[in-house]
Amino acid sequence: MEIFKEIAPLKAFLKEKATSAVGLVPTMGALHAGHLSLIEASKKENTLTVCSVFVNPAQFNNPLDLEKYPRTWEPDCRLLANAGCDVVFAPEVSTMYEQESIVTFDFGTLDKILEGQFRPGHFSGVALVVSKLFHIVNPTTAYFGQKDFQQFKIIEKLVAELKFNLTLKRMPIIREADGLAMSSRNRRLNEAERVHAALLYRSLCEAKKLLLRGEKIENVKEVVHKNFDALAHLKLEYFEWADTENLMPANSVSANTVLLIAAYVGEVRLIDNLLMHAN
Ligand code: PAF
Repeated sequence: MEIFKEIAPLKAFLKEKATSAVGLVPTMGALHAGHLSLIEASKKENTLTVCSVFVNPAQFNNPLDLEKYPRTWEPDCRLLANAGCDVVFAPEVSTMYEQESIVTFDFGTLDKILEGQFRPGHFSGVALVVSKLFHIVNPTTAYFGQKDFQQFKIIEKLVAELKFNLTLKRMPIIREADGLAMSSRNRRLNEAERVHAALLYRSLCEAKKLLLRGEKIENVKEVVHKNFDALAHLKLEYFEWADTENLMPANSVSANTVLLIAAYVGEVRLIDNLLMHAN
């Protein structure tokens, strides 16, 4: 496995070796089975797989969240090598942002709702770093997890608007045995918080069942809010039912709807989602 910290040597390497399909798996490190499923998918579909490991300061609206974001470089490298990843790109912040960036992205309503309401500027920072990674690696296909459903919609828009010549793949959420969606942030949970964190997924499943049974969304929202109110160190930020295309509130149960949730478990903010037509 080749490891690059600088852009020019990575580009030179790719120019020589990347003669056919290249898969890119962008990550912020602290890797888990969810990330490894993206590497596995990329390996099946490409001759070369590049994984980027970069904690992107531009997408953190909360400096404490950036500081506390888990950084596990050595275990990450071992996991990637075992998974058969070909190339790791792990730049320093100064490499990706030579000067303080003045470029921002505006996605209209899409980056103002749901996560955007609670994390202003977050998606602009994601779009900026993902654009840089696409320009640097020039992948055939880029792989992202469904857990960040809204992020995937933003990146879809980015690719369409800026005419990036690549395919995007949204890969299924990988869950722990109790349903908790795998996330780098889970390792910040203490034992009791880890147990209670499963409430996000349990609430999504309960809501889906109630909606499919014909329950009104207002009543379902009340049930979910009550679940969270019952636990003192959990704080629900939002639970919404949205159209999978534009993420605007859905008005009926259809195949094109998704349930989205965000909550604090102690100091750790977690998100999850569930498609109405699939797991
Ligand atoms: O999903 C993530 O881990 C990050 O938002 C991404 C796409 C790697 C950009 O920093």
